[in-house]
Amino acid sequence: MLKKVLITAIFFAGFSLSTFAQDFGYIGVDKCSMCHKSEKQGEQLKIWKASKHANAFKTLQSDKAKEIASKMGIADASKAKECLVCHASGYNVDAKLLDAKFSVEDGVQCETCHGPGSEYKSMKVMKSREESVKNGLKVWNNEEEIKKMCVTCHNEKSPTYKGFDFAKNYNEIKHNIPKN
Ligand code: HEC
Ligand code: HEC
Ligand code: HEC
Ligand code: HEC
Repeated sequence: MLKKVLITAIFFAGFSLSTFAQDFGYIGVDKCSMCHKSEKQGEQLKIWKASKHANAFKTLQSDKAKEIASKMGIADASKAKECLVCHASGYNVDAKLLDAKFSVEDGVQCETCHGPGSEYKSMKVMKSREESVKNGLKVWNNEEEIKKMCVTCHNEKSPTYKGFDFAKNYNEIKHNIPKN
């Protein structure tokens, strides 16, 4: 009897955890940028657009990508999860969780690093770091943690990997809110 109750409890704990995680949907870079493009906010949109992350999906349609993919027996890099896993986000997500404005073609976008934003995107939630985190925003406590996040993609599993210089590369994409 007790055993049965326990198994049920574990089943429900697992079930609610996974449904909780799946409640967060992707809204896409345009919606994040409504509030994150002004000079006062730190021009995150402009900095991201100038970075290679913005083109990471399009790169999968290049001749170089075709060459790499064909050597690996992959027909179309821009449709293969082996490539999309580091070059985009939302490609493997239930369509119900993708906003009409979300596009996989936007490559490595805001929510790829910051987490899907459907529940933290409102002004009220965003103004509180604690509430944002409860609603799916990922944060890092120091540069060591940030580096760990970067190297989930910048590593030797990348077919074109030539090393990753965190200090230099981080400076290129940094987009913090200016302190006043
Ligand atoms: C309605 C406006 C609005 C939208 C939409 C919005 N944000 Fe924000 N965001 C804010 C405000 C306001 C802050 C707090 C700024 C401050 O502390 O000065 C903030 C803070 C943040 C922070 C800093 C959190 C911290 O404490 O370190 C990140 C990261 C962030 N937003 C990312 C995003 C992403 C990614 C999206 C899209 C999924 C998004 N925001 C959409 C208004 C918005
Ligand atoms: C989801 C995977 C992913 C994550 C996480 C990620 N990147 Fe990237 N990054 C890429 C891809 C893919 C490219 C290549 C895009 C292209 O060339 O089209 C890239 C390119 C870059 C470039 C351009 C220079 C180069 O080596 O081609 C810089 C700089 C960079 N990333 C910095 C960072 C930093 C710093 C972090 C962590 C804060 C980070 N990235 C996290 C996937 C990622
Ligand atoms: C583990 C993450 C990861 C995977 C998987 C991955 N890439 Fe990348 N890709 C990156 C990163 C990071 C960069 C930028 C720097 C580098 O080459 O490591 C990049 C850069 C590229 C570039 C630009 C290289 C250049 O020199 O301009 C091409 C093309 C590319 N990837 C194609 C592919 C193809 C095709 C696949 C699938 C077969 C793939 N990638 C899988 C992370 C990945
Ligand atoms: C490659 C991963 C990556 C991408 C893509 C990315 N960010 Fe960030 N973002 C970070 C990291 C790492 C930080 C630094 C967090 C810190 O300082 O604790 C950051 C910081 C921020 C901050 C400021 C936090 C602060 O307190 O100063 C905001 C706002 C923000 N990002 C919004 C965005 C928006 C909007 C986009 C898309 C246009 C975006 N980010 C794209 C990784 C990323």
